Amino acid sequence: MDRFLKELQKTEDLLIMTNEELYRFAKQMDEFIGYIKALHTPLKNHVKFARELLRLGLSVDAAILYRELARAHRETGSERDYLRSLYMYYEILLMTLYIPTVYEELLKNAKEYEQTVFGPLFHYLSGFTQHFHLFEYEKAYETYSHALELLDKIKPKEFNRYDVVKYRDLKLLLLSNMTDTLLRAIFKGGKNEEYINRIKAHLEELKKIETDMLFLKINEVEFNLATENIQEAAKILMDIDAKIMHDKTKRHMLPLLYRTWALFSWRRQDTEGAVNYFKRALREAIQLQDEMRQKEIIDTIVLVLSMDTPYINLFSKEGKELLLYLLSTLLAKDWYLGEDHSKKVAEYSKKVAEAYEFLGGVSINKGKIYLAGLLHDTGKLYIPWYILNKPIKPIDLEWESMKYHPTYGAIIMRKMGMPEFARYVEEHHERIDGSGYPYGIKKPHIISQIIGIVDDFAAATSLTRKYEKPLTKEEALEEFEKQKGIKFDAGVVDALKFAMTNL
Ligand SMILES: [Fe+2]
Ligand SMILES: [Fe+2]
Repeated sequence: MDRFLKELQKTEDLLIMTNEELYRFAKQMDEFIGYIKALHTPLKNHVKFARELLRLGLSVDAAILYRELARAHRETGSERDYLRSLYMYYEILLMTLYIPTVYEELLKNAKEYEQTVFGPLFHYLSGFTQHFHLFEYEKAYETYSHALELLDKIKPKEFNRYDVVKYRDLKLLLLSNMTDTLLRAIFKGGKNEEYINRIKAHLEELKKIETDMLFLKINEVEFNLATENIQEAAKILMDIDAKIMHDKTKRHMLPLLYRTWALFSWRRQDTEGAVNYFKRALREAIQLQDEMRQKEIIDTIVLVLSMDTPYINLFSKEGKELLLYLLSTLLAKDWYLGEDHSKKVAEYSKKVAEAYEFLGGVSINKGKIYLAGLLHDTGKLYIPWYILNKPIKPIDLEWESMKYHPTYGAIIMRKMGMPEFARYVEEHHERIDGSGYPYGIKKPHIISQIIGIVDDFAAATSLTRKYEKPLTKEEALEEFEKQKGIKFDAGVVDALKFAMTNL
């Protein structure tokens, strides 16, 4: 085990590993996880291990380490240690990923331990999930505010004894996140005096606690942007810029700074500036392997694109540029299926739709199915790089989070004002026998079925990083023949066969 820790410490960057190296690494990692799962007592170096794994962007593995630690503590009987490790497990996992079962479990625990010092912490994470993964801003606001009430009932000294998060830090986080949820509501819903006054009050309180924390200042900039106080926003923004640019230790703040500059430019109707800053923000976040920040930036881009402003929207030149940039980010992120996966799925889907119609099926709008094909995996933008490209079988939590990508895709479609495409994207992994995901529904839309079969076909016949030999076209078609009437409509399988043999 110590040897493995040393190896981890020496590992620099998974992104630049060769296929073979990544394959070996992933195998070693899974063996390590298997080893901890079999342990009955806490691991000696568990914090060191977790730190290294987090540094490499392996949040799921780090979280599992804490989950197993919690289990061991539960068996030995210390509730405090149990809850502390459990909190770490939830925190590490939910900061980057949404996994429905984990979220439900968290809600249950938040209720059960409401009256302990872990009450506000668990509620904070529930609010965080609603805020950053489920985009339910009002609900998140209520949860944060409930957490704050719970926190106010605890004495700071008593709370700090548990030192997972300090009393003051949690208060700052709660207030700051509450401000952010309200800002998003204002951006979306126009002027609401009550909202604005509530934010003002929060910002005042934040200033009293701490004046120099950069992300709080960024809240202030956003507030001024939301209320169209551009001058004030500019002043604070310049100030933050000067602080971050000359301080190497604050480099991790750059994605956030650029995102705010982008919002600022957008508000000033400088569309070119907005596009450039968004790109820089995302590039920086990818370089830092900061999945949480990437998600936040993508979410802001989607928010801007979805708003019907005269400067940037989905149909403007800049809007299209941003959308293409998002798609290219997705392509760069998903090595496993390769750069042209979405394009290939779009083109083949169109051909299969033509064949389907030719063989007597209903007529399908070709432009729509092509676009749906291009967008089908957009939800993967929210899944960490390592999970998307893991060269061996994903472990349970990774797989569960992967299964959520159609839902994320649908959320993005709805946010961008493309509700019709939400369904096509959401159902592309559903199968007619109910064996698909994420919901197991038995009547996926015909467009989703065609995209689904083409997606599987493309994956089966391309050289993936999974060390499986790709099937030939004929072998793959034979496999699909067996699924006729089981996973796919007979007509869809026939159409695939027809389109692919007449290609
Ligand atoms: Fe997919
Ligand atoms: Fe796909």
